[in-house]
Amino acid sequence: MKKIQICMLIAIIVASVWVYVSREEEPPKSIQVGVSLYMENDTFLEGIVEAMEAEALLYEETTGISVDLNVSVANGSQREQNEQVKRYINLGYDAICVNLVDRTSAATIVDMAEVGERQIPVVFFNREPVEEDILRRENVYYVGSEAKESAIFQGNSVVDAYAKYGDIMDKNGDGILQYVMLEGELGHQDAIIRSDYSVQTIEDMGVTLKKLETGTADWNRQNAYAMMGKWLDIHGDAIELVLCNNDDMALGALDVLTEREMTAAVFGIDATDAGLEALDAGLLWATVDCNAEDQGCAIIQVLTSSILEGTAATTVSYLDGRYVRSEIFELKSEFWQ
Ligand code: GAL
Repeated sequence: MKKIQICMLIAIIVASVWVYVSREEEPPKSIQVGVSLYMENDTFLEGIVEAMEAEALLYEETTGISVDLNVSVANGSQREQNEQVKRYINLGYDAICVNLVDRTSAATIVDMAEVGERQIPVVFFNREPVEEDILRRENVYYVGSEAKESAIFQGNSVVDAYAKYGDIMDKNGDGILQYVMLEGELGHQDAIIRSDYSVQTIEDMGVTLKKLETGTADWNRQNAYAMMGKWLDIHGDAIELVLCNNDDMALGALDVLTEREMTAAVFGIDATDAGLEALDAGLLWATVDCNAEDQGCAIIQVLTSSILEGTAATTVSYLDGRYVRSEIFELKSEFWQ
């Protein structure tokens, strides 16, 4: 009996040493992450990806675990995005981050990332799926900012500017701000909500607006340049206020205004680097910092803790355990702060 006990003890010690030694010899772990973006050349998304890369490096420095990001772009095609996700899953990736082409396609991706017993974590970002799809199973998250909040900030900035510089903004002095609205992509939650609440905030605070034009420029500087050019051909100097769903479109409007040596008060959202430059130069009146940096960090924190601990990170603030909403800020040009 004693012999058996001694043998068992030796076996346990040998096993423990073996586990310890083999753990010590384990090569540094790495996490493979597949990222799919709806489109290339989107300035705000580039900011989020840069922040993800920086946070991944920091994670590797502090834990020794490398986070390898493989980024692909879906060129506006949901079919292409599904193929990209399928490829990541077939390659055995540990997590998938998706900036959806079509916000209604989230369920397909969530289901694709469930392989037998394996529930691969999926982090959607920037384009928000319906809650039902996020709650479809465990390990599905959304990182983004609150569209309504950014619109209210934009509206407040216009009202503040009007209180201070009403005489400059209201070029024809009729007590009404004639405005045009450059909108992001059709169906995008940020475009719909920002357009509605920006105008509503301004009107609710007692500033009278008159809509001259509104149009979709797909978040894009060149499209906005072309659209604003047409509107200036039609309305000329009657355009007093340019409300833009993002900075890139605000910059497109400013490009054409500058080219034609015309003025109008232009307001953006995002706080991209180029947007901030225009703000510093006093061209853009105000923007809203949607905190691309914080969003990128949150995505990495959510997925690493989801993979390694099987649970959501505690370092980022959660709403319902599945949503991260980045804090955002109003930024005004220095000339009228
Ligand atoms: C918005 C952002 C836009 C564009 C869009 C893409 O949140 O303000 O600039 O990046 O997302 O989905």
